Amino acid sequence: MTATATTTDLRADILALKEERNAVILAHNYQISEIQEIADYVGDSLGLSFRAQETDAEVIAFCGVHFMAETAKIINPEKTVILPDADAGCSLEDSCPAPELKAFLEENADQNYYVITYINSSAAVKALSDVICTSGNAVRIVEAAPKDRPILFVPDQNLGAWVSQQTGRQMDFWNGNCYVHVEFTRESIQKIKDEYPDAAVVAHPECTTAVRLLADEVCSTEKMVHFCKESPSQNIIVVTESGMLHRLRREVPEKNLIAGPTDHCACADCRYMKMNTMEKLYLCLRDLSPEVTLSEEEREAAKAPIMRMLELSK
Ligand code: 13P
Ligand code: SF4
Repeated sequence: MTATATTTDLRADILALKEERNAVILAHNYQISEIQEIADYVGDSLGLSFRAQETDAEVIAFCGVHFMAETAKIINPEKTVILPDADAGCSLEDSCPAPELKAFLEENADQNYYVITYINSSAAVKALSDVICTSGNAVRIVEAAPKDRPILFVPDQNLGAWVSQQTGRQMDFWNGNCYVHVEFTRESIQKIKDEYPDAAVVAHPECTTAVRLLADEVCSTEKMVHFCKESPSQNIIVVTESGMLHRLRREVPEKNLIAGPTDHCACADCRYMKMNTMEKLYLCLRDLSPEVTLSEEEREAAKAPIMRMLELSK
């Protein structure tokens, strides 16, 4: 690759390296359109975890954020898992450092909490958990939780509040949130609704309760594709990260998918998801770096609650 390489050259180079490395490219729905177009699979956290579990490729090039690539490594120790930018983190992961969760659980040992942890967390936090969930299976995971133990839901208080409302199950929440989704306000969504009074609204459960109350459907990014396909509404306001619009416009071209005019945009960029570029994808396949690595002890401890989730989600 040269400094003047075009997108077409890069595409060809990435595809050639993918063959050479026996690699699979997995991409989250929030990735830039070029990455979504070159990926073997594009999906939400749950779909990506299943794909990572099923693949027989030797290398997994994970275009998402770090915790997603780390999850792929936890369930695939024998594979090389690489990601375009090792600094692609997540504000939810940052909101729950493992030592703080450990100290909280020790201080509240008398509660005997059943810890349900959103996949947007570090391996060390997963290792302290009973089971993992994603936005796509959180209701099912909470419904399967033991009835005789209190639940601690970690780290997204908004997803937690939504699941609690869906299941009727009381739970305690960690005080974390996604910095992108809490930026959407009821007023900003209402403004778009005023312009498109007949539009349906689909929102991610990481949004605040005030925003979720305006939504016709609250769901994971993957379920948004199904909702947009099946909704009788021609206009649909999409309240989540901006990359979702690429996936939706490709798969549901017949609908008017509204991210909102820029002065009150309903879709915003996640700075972490947007750290991945085609150049970095090329380089990580060429150098097999940055690579996700974990100690065997940490990996084993984090694996059990992930496998419990996958079993409960089949
Ligand atoms: P999904 O699993 O619904 O794609 O959500 C992942 C995420 O990070 C949302 O901000
Ligand atoms: Fe994390 Fe929010 Fe970015 Fe999703 S959108 S990866 S929850 S910071």
